[in-house]
Amino acid sequence: MSGILDVFERGGKPGQRPVWMMRQAGRYLPEYRALRVQKGTFLDLVYDPVAACEVTMQPLRRFGFDAAILFSDILVVPHALGFEVRFEAGEGPRLQCIDRMDDIRFDQTQQAKVRWAPVIETVSAIRAQMNREGFLGQSLIGFAGAPWTIACYMVEGQGGDHQFQKATTRAQHDPDFFERLLDWIAETTILYLGDQIRAGAQIIQIFDSWAGACPAGKREDFILKPTQKIVTALKAEFPDVPVIGFPRALPDEEMARFVADAGVDAVQLGSSVSYPLVRSSLGSRCVTQGFLDPVVLRQGGDLLDHTVQKMIDDVGSDPHIFNLGHGILPDTPIAHVEQFLKRIRQ
Ligand code: CP3
Repeated sequence: MSGILDVFERGGKPGQRPVWMMRQAGRYLPEYRALRVQKGTFLDLVYDPVAACEVTMQPLRRFGFDAAILFSDILVVPHALGFEVRFEAGEGPRLQCIDRMDDIRFDQTQQAKVRWAPVIETVSAIRAQMNREGFLGQSLIGFAGAPWTIACYMVEGQGGDHQFQKATTRAQHDPDFFERLLDWIAETTILYLGDQIRAGAQIIQIFDSWAGACPAGKREDFILKPTQKIVTALKAEFPDVPVIGFPRALPDEEMARFVADAGVDAVQLGSSVSYPLVRSSLGSRCVTQGFLDPVVLRQGGDLLDHTVQKMIDDVGSDPHIFNLGHGILPDTPIAHVEQFLKRIRQ
């Protein structure tokens, strides 16, 4: 039985603290950088099932994490829907913008299925490889972006530090367009995640990385409802597959409502969370995941030891999966990851 699935089923075993890390397969690993250079672009790596499987396995072999996460990207969904997506070195993603109602074409899902087929092949390959290498207690996590975050990238055409001004302005002034776009992404994501589960994904995470940029009055329509639509559809077909939500930077006091309304089994918490506050509103049974600050992990030393110890103390025997509050930074020393794991596993 996997440590992580056990947390969902029984609240976890005393003394056992499952752990994995957001972006655990990535540039901080020399073996990742080597394969990445060989493959050319990031998307070439994502759509190569043999290479993507290999990259997924790398952090499992090195650190023995309790979960593998499919090596792919949330922007595979707009790409599969026919929009150009590029990843520029040092600049982040660039996308072909969506602008008109006519560009939202619900008849494109068959084409999308063909385009993401290699990613689904990767999922099957990872499960087979995990079995072959004896990672039997570990779970495989599949994922997608939440409709709000994907819509932000599609309307803005890029990510970055500017908080998606164009997208959020459009969302407020043209809600009909935005709601139709969210619905299109949600429908597509239901098919995409269903394909991942049928291929062997055992847990699903839905990343709403830009939830915090959503105007406060619009969170119900733009964050809660689209996620709820996806979760409801998945639960109808796959009632035993746990779903983890990640409404990043949503205020602490709104987390309990998110969990209840979206219908997720767990919530990933960001690094700025007040854990005791969120836990008291969530109750003792909801699974949480997170929330070590990636900057603290990169810094290491006493600060890392103290922060991890405080996290362990705060969490106590609550059903929790140890993780970061966001993705690991590319310049994080491997020794700091080892230090983090040693403390968690003590
Ligand atoms: O190991 C894992 O966690 C699985 C793989 C994974 C990637 N992206 C690989 C990746 C996952 C789960 C994601 C999700 C993702 N992608 C999110 C949601 C989580 C979050 O970080 O908030 C978002 C917003 C994206 C979009 C994205 N992809 C951005 C903004 C960038 C550029 C920034 C960066 O880190 O370079 C990417 C590229 C990306 N996705 C890389 C990796 C390993 C780096 C690409 C490279 O190798 O050059």
